[in-house]
Amino acid sequence: MVKKRNGQDLPLARKYELYEQTVQNVEADIDFIESEYKKLKSRDARTLREDFGGTGALACKWVARHPENLAWAVDLDPEPIQYGLKRHYALLDDEQQKRMKYIEANVLDDMEFKTDIVIAFNFSYFIFKKRNQLLSYFKKVREGLNDDGVFFIDLFGGTECRQELEEETEFDNHTYYWDCDKYNAITDEATYYIHFKDNRTDEKFEKVFHYDWRMWSMAELQDILWDAGFSEVLTYWEEDEEDDDDDDDSTTGSGLFYQSREEDNCESWVTYIVAKK
Ligand SMILES: C[S@@+](CC[C@H](N)C(=O)[O-])C[C@H]1O[C@@H](n2cnc3c(N)ncnc32)[C@H](O)[C@@H]1O
Repeated sequence: MVKKRNGQDLPLARKYELYEQTVQNVEADIDFIESEYKKLKSRDARTLREDFGGTGALACKWVARHPENLAWAVDLDPEPIQYGLKRHYALLDDEQQKRMKYIEANVLDDMEFKTDIVIAFNFSYFIFKKRNQLLSYFKKVREGLNDDGVFFIDLFGGTECRQELEEETEFDNHTYYWDCDKYNAITDEATYYIHFKDNRTDEKFEKVFHYDWRMWSMAELQDILWDAGFSEVLTYWEEDEEDDDDDDDSTTGSGLFYQSREEDNCESWVTYIVAKK
C-alpha cells in the first residue's frame, strides 16, 4: 500500500537528485543550443547565462565541455544553489571552477556581464503571468546578450496541458508524477505539482515541487519576443521516433528538433523557441 508523505520530508539531496534524473537532460539541451548557435552565427558560442538556473547543472556542464567556455547560473533561491555547489561545481577541476559562477539574484536584476547565449529552461519564465512582466524580462535578456547573442527558451503545450490530470511515469527506483492540479480557462493560469514515489519503500512524497504558472502559447511568446526587440524569432518542433511501433495513434518524440512554422496539435508536446538579438 502506498504511504503518503509530505514532500518537505524528502531529504534535500534526494529531492534535487530525483528532479535532475527525471526532468532535466542537460547534455541534450547543450547539444541543441551549441549546434543551433553555430548554424545561426557560423561560430561557436563560448559564454552562457542559465536563468532560473536552480542547481546550475547545465552551466557546470557547459564549462566542462570546452576550455574557453564561461557560464553563470542565476537563481533567487539559495537551496538549489547549495545542492549544485556540492553535486556539480565540486566535481569541476580548479580551472573549470574559475569559469563558472552561481549568482543568487532575480533574473530581472541588471547583470554586469553579457553573454553569447541566455537560456530559460523548464518553462521557468511561466512565473511571469502578465504580458508586461514577461516583456520586461525578455527585454532584460536582450540587453544581457552580446550583439550576436541568442536567447533559448523551452515551452510545453498540447490539448492535455490545459486539463486537470496527473501523469505518471515509472522509473527503475522511483515514480514521477506531473500533476496539473488546477487550470483556469479565463486567465490561462495553472497550478502544477511534482510528486515522487520511492518504489522500494512505496512512500509517495507529495508536492515536492510546486509551480504557479501562466500557460503561455507559442504564438503569444513569439509576439512578446518580437516586441522585446529580438530581430528574428525561430520556432522548432520535435521529430517523431522513427520506429515507433505502438498500436495507438500517439507518437514518441525522438529528442531531435527542427525549425518549423506549421504543425498539428497533439496531446502533449515540448519544444524550443530561439530568438536572435
Ligand atoms: C523550474 S526550476 C528550473 C530549474 C532548472 N533551470 C531546470 O531547467 O530544470 C525554476 C527555478 O527558478 C527559480 N526562480 C524563480 N523565480 C526566479 C526569479 N525571478 N529569478 C531567479 N530565479 C528564479 C526558482 O528558485 C527555481 O530554482
